[in-house]
Amino acid sequence: MHETDFIVIGSGIAGLRAAVELGRAGSVLILTKDELTESSTKYAQGGVAVALSDDDEIALHFEDTLRAGAGLCDPEAVRVLVQEGPQYVRELMEWGCRFDRVGDRLEFGKEAAHSRRRIVHAQGDATGREIVRTLLERVRELPRVRILPHAFALRLLVREGQCEGVQYVDMRARTSHTVHARAVILATGGAGHIYAQTTNPDVVTGEGMAMAYEVGALLADMEFVQFHPTALHQEGAPRFLLSEALRGEGGVLRNRFGERFMLRYHEQAELAPRDVVARAIVSELHRTQAECVYLDLTHLPANVLRERFPRIYETCWRYGLDMTREWIPVSPAAHYFMGGVRTDLEGWTGIAGLFAAGEVSCTGVHGANRLASNSLLEGLVFGARAARRALSTPSPSISATWPGLSPEEALIDQVIAERIRTLMWDAVGLIRHGDALRLAVDELEKLRAAASTLATRHMATVAWLVARAALFREESRGAHFRTDFPIPDDARWRCHSLQHCERGIFTHPIGTEVFS
Ligand code: FAD
Ligand code: SIN
Repeated sequence: MHETDFIVIGSGIAGLRAAVELGRAGSVLILTKDELTESSTKYAQGGVAVALSDDDEIALHFEDTLRAGAGLCDPEAVRVLVQEGPQYVRELMEWGCRFDRVGDRLEFGKEAAHSRRRIVHAQGDATGREIVRTLLERVRELPRVRILPHAFALRLLVREGQCEGVQYVDMRARTSHTVHARAVILATGGAGHIYAQTTNPDVVTGEGMAMAYEVGALLADMEFVQFHPTALHQEGAPRFLLSEALRGEGGVLRNRFGERFMLRYHEQAELAPRDVVARAIVSELHRTQAECVYLDLTHLPANVLRERFPRIYETCWRYGLDMTREWIPVSPAAHYFMGGVRTDLEGWTGIAGLFAAGEVSCTGVHGANRLASNSLLEGLVFGARAARRALSTPSPSISATWPGLSPEEALIDQVIAERIRTLMWDAVGLIRHGDALRLAVDELEKLRAAASTLATRHMATVAWLVARAALFREESRGAHFRTDFPIPDDARWRCHSLQHCERGIFTHPIGTEVFS
């Protein structure tokens, strides 16, 4: 058994930013499932949305975020994000983060549903890598922060409403451990890998959400899963992301007959909100009996494409595609979770000593649909805020000993995992219907009960929470689309969904305190 002041689970943007804050004041242990740089953050391409350009305003970023969120954002959370965002991005630059510049001024990219060029990026399309490098350098300067890679957290130790620590498995030594702390910050990211098709790296399977649910935290808005319209669709290649910034720079979508179909679906065409583009692609795939559509960049100057998107260019090249000369096959894939562990504006989960920040959390910032490139910003702002609040947490009196955890609990039953991924993609994907959702909820309940390890059960739990919320919300809004309830129903559903292990599923009004 060990002890530390603070535990951070996850080494993406939210976890690292939190650790910088905590490490100034106490001892910190960062547990992370794989190599310490492995996270969604590392793969982020487009950049960070922040109102820093001369022709931009915080009020415009605020409005764009609310509009994308389709009536479900908590305005106060959005205000914190857009108002505090610039100071945290400036701080990152002071710490050595090299965002791209034209001369001595920041270069701003354009992405869907933004009314301004607002996205700062690094090395063209390697923004996440640069942010991780910067934050890790900062963390390593703090002698009281210890990072433990290959440490798979599986259980939160909560007794009588108080979080006392974490149990994890050291995946290399195959040993299990119990660590006690004053406060735990969950920064485990989203859950893309509960879907058969995802842009997310393998580490993103949603344990943070499941662990929190099991100990009585509230899970909010789990039905809202964002599908990115343009993941590479090529035999033998991973579902590599083709950044929305490519469409921001003029890329267009074509169907198998070469038709630029987005003009028929939305006045903003390829720069319509992400959910609109993703659904338009699915509809086009059905209409043309095709498996993919194409991203056409061939009309853009080749040298600009190679310089602005070097990583994407190289990856396409590796899979035999020259994006300056040929159309790139793409289709949608699960990308981002708007829902997650419900927190207040300081990352508190309602359980003493337990905080959450980044994609694992639901602060109310994203509503029903995240505005592109708002999540890195959220990780920075709310990672820091959660940490500051955690600093004032008093030490718990450790109650009694906890039963040990078998290292076997970290193993995933691949048969169950595959079934979950297929079921989620088929029944709880971009286009949903009550009949299929009902069957999915039933089957996921059975898979949850059949799971023989904690890691497998966590995956089934998150999938079940998403399916149950999707069945509960009898309307279509933002990223949640049901053919049996195809229009938004403000009178009944302009509210959050909340799930609790004892209280079931219920609604909660927008913009009001969850924890009183
Ligand atoms: P992550 O960065 O996902 O980090 C999660 C961490 O938790 C990882 O270190 C993981 O190993 C660890 N972890 C998970 N489970 C456990 C466990 N049980 N035990 C121990 N450790 C665990 N957003 C933008 O704003 N702009 C972009 O340009 C952008 N591009 C993207 C491109 C891609 C390909 C992807 C996948 C996402 C992109 N996003 C982008 C979304 C954004 O990257 C993520 O939402 C954000 O990075 C999440 O940060 P995080 O710190 O919450 O989690
Ligand atoms: C992208 O570059 O298209 C991803 C941006 C995001 O997910 O915010």
